[in-house]
Amino acid sequence: RQSRRPDYSELYELMTRASDYYQEQLKAAPDAPQVINYLKQRGLDGQTCKQFGIGFAPRGWDNLQNLLATSDEKEEQLIKTGMLVENEESKKRYDRFRDRVMFPIRDSRGRIIAFGGRVLGDAKPKYLNSPESPIFHKGRELYGLYEAKKNNRSLDRILVVEGYMDVVALSQLGISNAVATLGTATTLEHMQRLFKTVPEVVFCFDGDDAGRRAAWRALESTLPNMQDGRQARFLFLPQGEDPDSMVRQEGSEQFLQRIRDQALSLDTFLFKELEDGLDLHTMDGRARLTKLAQPYLSKLPDGIFRQLLLQKLSELTGLDSSRLEAHLSTDTEQKT
Ligand code: UTP
Ligand code: MN
Ligand code: MN
Ligand code: MN
Ligand code: MN
Repeated sequence: RQSRRPDYSELYELMTRASDYYQEQLKAAPDAPQVINYLKQRGLDGQTCKQFGIGFAPRGWDNLQNLLATSDEKEEQLIKTGMLVENEESKKRYDRFRDRVMFPIRDSRGRIIAFGGRVLGDAKPKYLNSPESPIFHKGRELYGLYEAKKNNRSLDRILVVEGYMDVVALSQLGISNAVATLGTATTLEHMQRLFKTVPEVVFCFDGDDAGRRAAWRALESTLPNMQDGRQARFLFLPQGEDPDSMVRQEGSEQFLQRIRDQALSLDTFLFKELEDGLDLHTMDGRARLTKLAQPYLSKLPDGIFRQLLLQKLSELTGLDSSRLEAHLSTDTEQKT
């Protein structure tokens, strides 16, 4: 069925106006000095804040509403983008983002499509994000990708991190090729988009259980995208650190050195995880590894890389690699 592409230009325009307002409030709001202080304390200077369009949504329930909901139509559009929220019972409408540091999220063309907002203190939730909307699809977008492309004439690799602050802090310290998934797992679509932009992706998630789970999910989304010539690596940070805390602690030279020295190749990470808890000196250990590895190997596109991984599995298990190949399509067991 054919349908004309809807025109969302007014939604984009509202998002731009919201972002302009938040950026002005970084100067004009009564709380502005505390906010500036917070940003400074996190190591960000004015230029970095400007580059990423960082702003501030002041306290109050209707600042944005009063400014931008100038007609019923505009108000509906603000609801659609999630900038206004409607109370289910009272039907009252109010600003979603209040008393938060604001990070605009851009699409690949630089249009603002969503926001992330961080509390200044320890309140929960720490980050509030725009909901999915006609112009914002989380599983597709990567925070910082537009800025990374803009700041680098040519990009040869991209760093994938978890958080807004990781992207911004790395950029502040001269590492301007980081992007973040938006509080969701790395998707196939993310990986397609990244590998369309660069041949090498380095994942660097937080040094905690959630970060390690995120890395495994990222590996799963990477496998079907591992055409020959592409490279994916995985850097694991010390417990409790994230890229922001790490790079501020050790500086960007050390951080880049860490990537060079410590980032695991995809095959190393894959087999390290699959072998975990298995004894390859035993026959059943090797059988188990074969069974565990098959669904992952079968996700790989045909090519040299797939051949080499099969060969590695063959070396680990002593099974003939053409035998392994024959089993690939029949296995469905997944590591959980
Ligand atoms: P983290 O909790 O690791 O955030 O979540 P962070 O960036 O390190 O936070 P601070 O500012 O340094 O303390 C990583 C990402 O997960 C999403 C956000 O995108 C965040 O940047 N997240 C986290 C949420 O969406 N909501 C939350 O409440 C927390
Ligand atoms: Mn995502
Ligand atoms: Mn985390
Ligand atoms: Mn973090
Ligand atoms: Mn952090």
